[in-house]
Amino acid sequence: MKFFIDTANLEQIREAHDLGILDGVTTNPSLMAKEGIKGYDNIMAHYKAICDIVDGDVSAEVIATDFEGMIKEGDNLADLHPQIVVKVPAIKDGIKAIKYFSKKGIRTNCTLIFSAGQALLAAKAGATYVSPFIGRLDDISFDGIQLIDQIRLIYDNYAFETQILAASVRHTMHVIQCAEVAADIMTGPLSAILGLLKHPLTDSGLAQFLADHKKVNE
Ligand code: E4P
Repeated sequence: MKFFIDTANLEQIREAHDLGILDGVTTNPSLMAKEGIKGYDNIMAHYKAICDIVDGDVSAEVIATDFEGMIKEGDNLADLHPQIVVKVPAIKDGIKAIKYFSKKGIRTNCTLIFSAGQALLAAKAGATYVSPFIGRLDDISFDGIQLIDQIRLIYDNYAFETQILAASVRHTMHVIQCAEVAADIMTGPLSAILGLLKHPLTDSGLAQFLADHKKVNE
């Protein structure tokens, strides 16, 4: 399973990259706003700065919700850097835009996926990635992981090449569960990635090893 980090914070992206396990980055307009990035030029410069840190794909979301607007923005984003993947919402014009980008060889990430039907349409339109939001489904008492499982079955039935990018991952258990149901990628916060390392027996075991070493070496 590939690991993407879901943030526009350059420090956190650098920290995850330095771990040596980072495969890409996802952003969205809320995450960009959280970092205070505003205005077309600053937004484009920020995407470029992210691409300069990581080696993998960087999802950058269109703001327009109509076909013409989405393709105009998406073309500009794709021209910005070869690592950019155009993120498009799972709405009617979004599906049309994904088809347009797919014909042009521009990679896309169909976002705000909350049902298997949306994932099926996105795959048929040629999306590179679909992003089912598991945390937001859990928030309203639907099983987000079950949706990943369902999409996996459908994509495998028909050998769709669209990759399942489990999004809205909130904690370490989500990461493990995504791996169990064979999501291709998970995108989550740095805390969910670093949290995978946490175990009290590792900490106490290491402390004991160091204490025993010290006893005979001082
Ligand atoms: C996906 O690409 C989104 O950026 C993200 O995962 C949404 O997560 P949230 O539900 O924690 O905002």
